[in-house]
Amino acid sequence: MQNLTLLDRLRKDFTGLDTRYHLADGRETHRYYLDSAASTLTLNCARQVADEFLQHYANTHSQAHFSARIANRAYDWAHQQALNFVGSHHAKYIACFAGSGSTAPLNRLARLLAARRPERDITLVSLMEHHANDLPHRRHAGQVIHIPLMGKAPALGAIDLAALEGLLEHYRDRVNYIALSAASNVTGIVNPIHEIAALAHAHNTWIIVDASQSIAHAPLKLTDNGTVERELDVVAFSGHKLYTPGSPGVMVVRRDLLEDQEPDELGGGMVDDVSLSGYQVSQHFPDREEAGTPNIPGAVQLGAVLNVLQRIGMQRIHASEQRLLRRLLAELSAIPQVRIYGDPDLERTPRLGVVSFNLAGLEHGLVAAVLNDYHNVAVRNGCFCAHPYVRELLKPELWELDIDFDTDNAEALIKPWQGMVRASLGLYSTDDDIKALLNGIDDLLAKPDHYRIQYQADRDGNFHHRNFAVSTETLFNPETALDRALAHSGI
Ligand SMILES: Cc1ncc(COP(=O)(O)O)c(C=O)c1O
Repeated sequence: MQNLTLLDRLRKDFTGLDTRYHLADGRETHRYYLDSAASTLTLNCARQVADEFLQHYANTHSQAHFSARIANRAYDWAHQQALNFVGSHHAKYIACFAGSGSTAPLNRLARLLAARRPERDITLVSLMEHHANDLPHRRHAGQVIHIPLMGKAPALGAIDLAALEGLLEHYRDRVNYIALSAASNVTGIVNPIHEIAALAHAHNTWIIVDASQSIAHAPLKLTDNGTVERELDVVAFSGHKLYTPGSPGVMVVRRDLLEDQEPDELGGGMVDDVSLSGYQVSQHFPDREEAGTPNIPGAVQLGAVLNVLQRIGMQRIHASEQRLLRRLLAELSAIPQVRIYGDPDLERTPRLGVVSFNLAGLEHGLVAAVLNDYHNVAVRNGCFCAHPYVRELLKPELWELDIDFDTDNAEALIKPWQGMVRASLGLYSTDDDIKALLNGIDDLLAKPDHYRIQYQADRDGNFHHRNFAVSTETLFNPETALDRALAHSGI
């Protein structure tokens, strides 16, 4: 009961829940934020922790003075939160902060794991990956083979385990690691990561799990039943999808995968000694994997979020978001013109709070523009940095377009139809957000021609209102904000 209260109180403790904009019809309403899969809003209590830390801000490479010691302690605490969050209570794993999202750790892992076993020249990557968990492996990790998915487009499901097993058998002793997401950023569909870990390990293959889309929305532990066979070797995630914009990306990695190998990046803070003729890398983790001065406040803020989410309990957060997701799926499915992508049956194919859809005969760019300009509903549209997956989901529709790809303007003809609209949930999402989305869809479906003539499409498939343009400068201008801050501080 006490925890439930904490969850309910935290739901309202985000910056940006009351942000208001003027709309194309002259109304002013508050924003309905349904773009959490791209980036979540900021959790205030965690930002307060980072602000308080700034009173003591100092470089973690300094040691002697009070502030440096406080900074080191706080930064260590942030690492510990990441380890605790995924259930690593022993020294087998290390947590490292790197870059500004998951992309940095994923690139680094591709380089490190490829260098570790160069004789294993094949990497298996699921077909549903964000480019961040596909392209780094293509670049650094030998030949990438994509693992197919269950079902048929547009209702594709999770990874096809039988096909994966077939690939592991076929390329026996050649597959270095499998890279896949815990949940898709397009459909929210959840992969059975521990089952896949067991398959991988039976073939002496490692598994990298991109947890960017699941870490804030569902429990994710390194092992689900305590056995090493089902244990994940690596988990990576982004702070900006975890209510901490600007924080570093995170990787939790089995220590032995990093030991006895030159770190990927070199610089200050990770060497014991440097002479003109050589250098000696520190044996100390995570320092040796974190060259340079880290984003300490960002890590501390992220640590605070991870801590408070654990206090609530990820099961509880998951259950709460699943309730909203069920409503969203049910109401969208009841509209005949809506096509939902990915198997929508939650019993058969579990998914998190991410739903991509299209409205029959309406371009995704038009739908997203009308939802924003007339309903203040913030959704994402396009291919969501997952082009192969989105194309696979859209295959039947794109075929129906009957476009001759040998003509010069084939690209322009297909562009408006090659994409989807995505609504995604966060801890702060409410029934009102869903209601606003559904109202917007109903309104657009009732008057499609009325709306279409208000817009002009550009070459990239974005729709621009002919008579209504918001000057973002008037809504937020960094210089004006700075002037206000100076005046407020009497400077
Ligand atoms: C599943 C998934 N992986 C990786 C990324 C890349 O994350 P970042 O932009 O934080 O590097 C994203 C971002 O949308 C994502 O959804």
